[in-house]
Amino acid sequence: MKKILTRIEEELVPAFEKAGYDAAYAKAAVSSRPDLCEFQCNGAMAAAKTYKKAPILIARDVVENLGENSIFAEAEAVNPGFINLKLAGGFLADYLNAMQADENLSAEKSAAPRKIILDYGGANVAKPLHVGHLRSAIIGESLKRMGRFMGHEVIGDVHLGDWGLQMGLIITELKKRSPELAYFQPDYTGEYPREAPFTIGDLEEIYPAASKRAKEDEQYREEALEATRRLQQGERGCRALWQKILEISVADLKKNYGRLNVTFDLWKGESDAQPYIPDMVRRMKDEGFAHEDQGALVVDVKEEGDTREIPPCIILKSDGAALYATTDLATIVERMQRYQPDEIFYLTDKRQEMHFIQVFRCARKTGLVNRDTKLTFCGFGTMNGKDGKPFKTREGGVMRLENLIGEIEEEMYRKIMDNHEIDPQEARETARIIGLSAIKYGDLSNQASKDYVFDIDRFTSFEGNTGPYILYTMVRIKSILHKYGEAREIKGGILPAANESEKALMLELSRFNATAEDACEEMAPHKICSYIYNLANEFNRFYHETRILTEEDPARRESWIRLLVLTLRVLEVCIHLLGFEAPERM
Ligand code: ARG
Repeated sequence: MKKILTRIEEELVPAFEKAGYDAAYAKAAVSSRPDLCEFQCNGAMAAAKTYKKAPILIARDVVENLGENSIFAEAEAVNPGFINLKLAGGFLADYLNAMQADENLSAEKSAAPRKIILDYGGANVAKPLHVGHLRSAIIGESLKRMGRFMGHEVIGDVHLGDWGLQMGLIITELKKRSPELAYFQPDYTGEYPREAPFTIGDLEEIYPAASKRAKEDEQYREEALEATRRLQQGERGCRALWQKILEISVADLKKNYGRLNVTFDLWKGESDAQPYIPDMVRRMKDEGFAHEDQGALVVDVKEEGDTREIPPCIILKSDGAALYATTDLATIVERMQRYQPDEIFYLTDKRQEMHFIQVFRCARKTGLVNRDTKLTFCGFGTMNGKDGKPFKTREGGVMRLENLIGEIEEEMYRKIMDNHEIDPQEARETARIIGLSAIKYGDLSNQASKDYVFDIDRFTSFEGNTGPYILYTMVRIKSILHKYGEAREIKGGILPAANESEKALMLELSRFNATAEDACEEMAPHKICSYIYNLANEFNRFYHETRILTEEDPARRESWIRLLVLTLRVLEVCIHLLGFEAPERM
């Protein structure tokens, strides 16, 4: 369906032409003065220079030539040369009725659907998920949904960190603690035990301990590096133990991501790239791209015109071990072979930008991707505490994701129980749903690249620009619909607005298609947030000024019910794109 602005311009174009002005000036925009009009055209201001004529005279000419038409209730030329427009109530109502009849609420799919691999989440095996991983999961899940909404084929891959030094550290620490395990016996040839010799709790304690020790003890660090190398070279015991670490860790990660409503199509990791490494390295050497530099194997990636130093991409360390860049490059090889994507999109903390510049340049230079394969890096900002520093626990430690979610849910639960009588079990479930909206909306309502302050008090508030406020509005609509009785058949469509607040709500609804398409194409969830915040505000204003259920005229009453149903549908689609849902009651 055509966008509202397009429809308006379709009326303006012939009016400009009939008045003798170039149609290129017939541009419409949402009004910057909603107190005066709904839309405006500034074309006469722009045309004034070309035609050497006062803009107000041009604006008057155009308005005169708009003549009789069914889409404007008002068209007025005002000083110094704006054309102020108000839509006809009937036109707007028709627009919403068409939107309502459309399965996709009149948002259009992309004309050129693409296959996109979305690399997000990026959790590291055996290290607890911390708030740094929260943003990648939240933003990535939303981008995945937005891409799919536009009709793209999006494949989400968690790309676990399961291959680097942290694995060697854990293996080394386990060996110190239980040297008797079969995994550490060099001449052991039997089957390894099915049961892992540790729990997730053990692993979470082991990694920080090992990491700390490696910093203090050079000998220990050497051992960990050696273990990492043996793992990467495929030593049987190391591999079997690693497999156990992976199993235990992934089960726990799935649980945690599940709590966030985050799912992945692929649970691949850096380790899956290993089989592609030797061949890739050989080719880079043979074709003269890679050369030795202080023992390491590197590919130069600086380019003419660089305004800052772009260091070479290190492919192998001097001891032959693979690095972060190595697995990322080999993963590109794998992804190209298996999926032939049009685009690979990476989502991490923006501090990894240089890494991706190097990897992308190296992949292009060495021909790992086709010329038209898009490689995109989206770097997000830091989640800070109220002190403006990266978010920490009250004690100053690294905040674990589980604890953060727990804290928010507890706060939500307290609020719900304070508000009214409700069965504690239902309150728990509702607290979970609203808590998630608080976290996700709090994050997504900021432009991803910016740092933001994670403010639990503000995010969990039922008022203001928050997830709970949006859900509160939706529950309010649900409750009216419930009272009205969903079973009752609603006849007829939405009628032209009866008052100003109703019209404002209708105008906001009519912007859904343009806003959603724009936000999804630009991968900008914050635009969805600001849209639904406005929509919720307009709905609540309408609600406070209108006695919906006691309205005596049945046609009017039913029209309002339809309007409520449409508002709810729009909000539902939007919060789905953001990755959360609404409860029935709260
Ligand atoms: N595991 C990494 C980290 O915790 C993020 C991985 C991002 N994806 C990638 N292909 N490098 O920082």
